[in-house]
Amino acid sequence: MTVAKENAAMAALEFVEDGMTLGLGSGSTAEIFIDKLGELVAGGLKVTGVPTSRRTADCAVEAGVPLVDADKVKAIHLTIDGADEVDTLSNLIKGGGACLLREKIIANASERMIVIVDPSKMVDYLGAFPLPVEVDPFGMALTAEQIYAALKSTGCVEAQTVLRQMKDGSGPLVTDGGNYILDSRCKKIPNVADTALALSQIPGVMEHGLFVDLADVIIIGEQEHVKIMELSRE
Ligand code: A5P
Repeated sequence: MTVAKENAAMAALEFVEDGMTLGLGSGSTAEIFIDKLGELVAGGLKVTGVPTSRRTADCAVEAGVPLVDADKVKAIHLTIDGADEVDTLSNLIKGGGACLLREKIIANASERMIVIVDPSKMVDYLGAFPLPVEVDPFGMALTAEQIYAALKSTGCVEAQTVLRQMKDGSGPLVTDGGNYILDSRCKKIPNVADTALALSQIPGVMEHGLFVDLADVIIIGEQEHVKIMELSRE
């Protein structure tokens, strides 16, 4: 899938203009984009990146992309990010890399969001990928119960929720913002907007991985070409 991701990343570069402030997403596809953006910067392109994670910041520094702290910007022209799933309405599941809170802050503040994916991310219904929800560690078991109830009440037949662990087994994964991630195995989320709203109303939920009506362009990289879907958000 690397060629597909590279093709998607290359196509996204076409949307970048001199002088832009860019939201830089997280994940392997976004990192490919950042590497290629760095090559353009080396050639004279003037852009400033706003990273959505510490790892992305490191990647951008290595690629030579100038950065500005999210606290220091008032507007972002364009965000380029990956996704874990994209449905037929261009709603997304994000957060497989545990960066969903910062990714959503930046995407929501951007004039445009471009999502770069390989074809494996395209689905009829969201939910086969476990839905990440970033939660405050305080009262996490109580929050988990409420997440389960919110998923059930908005039509998810399955909603088993697990606390994401570090890959090395050292304990719960802690996000850049100091929170935990609860992953809910729904298999299918039939009413995405309702589920998104219900999750947003739970006090311990810092943010959830459903990105509804945020993507403006979906670029699907394939082996030989790319498919670009531009959405109207009028
Ligand atoms: C990071 O938290 C995620 O939202 C990523 O954007 C998502 O997991 C896609 O990552 P890949 O590009 O590595 O598939």
